[in-house]
Amino acid sequence: MLNKFKRSVVVAMVAAAGVAGVATSSFAQGAAKAAAQPAAKPAVVGSAEAGAKKNSMCIGCHGIAEYKTAFPSVYRVPKIVGQSEKYLEAALLAYRSGERNHPSMTGIAKGLNDQDIADLAAYYANKK
Ligand code: HEC
Repeated sequence: MLNKFKRSVVVAMVAAAGVAGVATSSFAQGAAKAAAQPAAKPAVVGSAEAGAKKNSMCIGCHGIAEYKTAFPSVYRVPKIVGQSEKYLEAALLAYRSGERNHPSMTGIAKGLNDQDIADLAAYYANKK
């Protein structure tokens, strides 16, 4: 539990470092590394419209209605609708890189390319 919480904090830091474009503390070095990954590539612009067509594999778990999996007694799933696009993108990149680890999400993220991630982040950030 604690570990998971810490990871969430790290992801938030990665997002923050990515937005600010700076990393000063030694703690932020790892974050900077992760943030540098997307920055090294040509900027990918997310399209909410394209994301809407790619979310079929997310719905089962991140169901819009109640933010529970199909097996609510097993676990709850974080609400991703309306979170910042940068945060969602950073979280997905962190799952894909292995920096953030979760059996389902890591597997899902590894199947996404940069454009998919940008599109899905745009879609969920703008969905009401
Ligand atoms: C098998 C169930 C499952 C599927 C399918 C799934 N997710 Fe997740 N997702 C989770 C769980 C559980 C977590 C929380 C994991 C953790 O504790 O790190 C999560 C976390 C996330 C997070 C981080 C949220 C936060 O607040 O930090 C994002 C972003 C995300 N998922 C996006 C997606 C997208 C986009 C898809 C579809 C491409 C998807 N997920 C498909 C179960 C799923």
